[in-house]
Amino acid sequence: MDSESVRRDFPTVRKGSGIYLDSACQSLRPDSVIRAMDDYYESYPACGGRSVHSMASKVSVAVDEAREAFASFFGTDDPGCYAFMPNCTYALNTAAFGMGLKKGDVVVTTDCEHNSNHVPWLRLQEGVGIRRRMSRSRPDGSFDIESFKSFMDRSVKAVSVQHSSNVTGCVVPVRAVAEIAHDYGATVIVDGAQSAPHMPVDLKKADVDVYCMSVHKMLGPSGVGVMYGKREALERIKPLCLGGGTVGLATYDSVNLAPLPDRFEAGLQNYAGIVGAKAALDYLSKVGMREVEVWDSMLLERMMKGLEDIPNLHVVGPEDPGRRLGVFSFNIDGLNAHDIAMMADSMAGIMIRSGMHCAHPFYVSRGIDGSARASTYLYNDAKEVDVFVDTIRHIAEVFGDPASRP
Ligand code: ALA
Repeated sequence: MDSESVRRDFPTVRKGSGIYLDSACQSLRPDSVIRAMDDYYESYPACGGRSVHSMASKVSVAVDEAREAFASFFGTDDPGCYAFMPNCTYALNTAAFGMGLKKGDVVVTTDCEHNSNHVPWLRLQEGVGIRRRMSRSRPDGSFDIESFKSFMDRSVKAVSVQHSSNVTGCVVPVRAVAEIAHDYGATVIVDGAQSAPHMPVDLKKADVDVYCMSVHKMLGPSGVGVMYGKREALERIKPLCLGGGTVGLATYDSVNLAPLPDRFEAGLQNYAGIVGAKAALDYLSKVGMREVEVWDSMLLERMMKGLEDIPNLHVVGPEDPGRRLGVFSFNIDGLNAHDIAMMADSMAGIMIRSGMHCAHPFYVSRGIDGSARASTYLYNDAKEVDVFVDTIRHIAEVFGDPASRP
């Protein structure tokens, strides 16, 4: 990957707006994404799928092209299997609440899920009476397939797992999970928020039924997520929100749902966002997802190796960078995670995230308040990582708990 050339494509990098290591939260955007959105607003700011005039038709075509880009990017054939939504959380909620689960139905997740793949199931337990089981992760947070298997039986109607953790970076082997789950007749839902931006994902090979993602983590605009599903899986899911655009015909007393994927796209859509999403996929395709993955792992290895000898710094999750996808979570004895983040920003303009990263059960179950987290992407480089390493070393040595120092 030509790092210099990639970095030139990102306005905030060009402007020297600091060292951005918070891409697991939201990524930076390249010029091409911003231009595509500007072009929508400047040249054809109409709605799609409704009016038949020329400007609106241009929007409808652009939305179709965006769907085609998603189908091709994720190795599938049917663009109609991609529904645009406000974010990955909305997509996961749509899948969970739309499945029509009944009292006693069992759902299996893991004990490392983000709240977006945890709270909806908890709500369904309280409201509908589903039963939840959680596959137990290993002490470092990595997925344990033997534990997962032990929770499977014929009463399991859905398996809903993250593809990669936003805390540990561990990757769940979703293809193996799908194979096991399908043997029991369960639907497989995957939270792909952290995997889609950082590794090649072939949804046909993965054979999962539903895969949800956040476009704002993969160089695209805020406010766009996508729910992919196999056609037969999407046909079984009831939309979370209904109204304009989601129906074939409604009378005073009846309604027919529109075909896929329109039934999931209620109301006017974020057309600028959808156009920007396509531009983001075009950009990632041009660089190559394998290249992105290799680059991220080079940066993470440099980061973790650079900090491994600091005695009062503790890694959350695997200590082997090769087992983490783009995120490095850590604590320093005697310091609150937010203090670490604020010091890194004020001392060196380094932007990282701190807290529980919306994965509360993970932290609460381990009795920790949260962590600092640095996350990389294709626009970061080795020099930035070295500044991060020097800054965190300084913070640990000067401000960390002296009791833990050698
Ligand atoms: N869940 C997102 C993160 O990990 C927001 O930062």
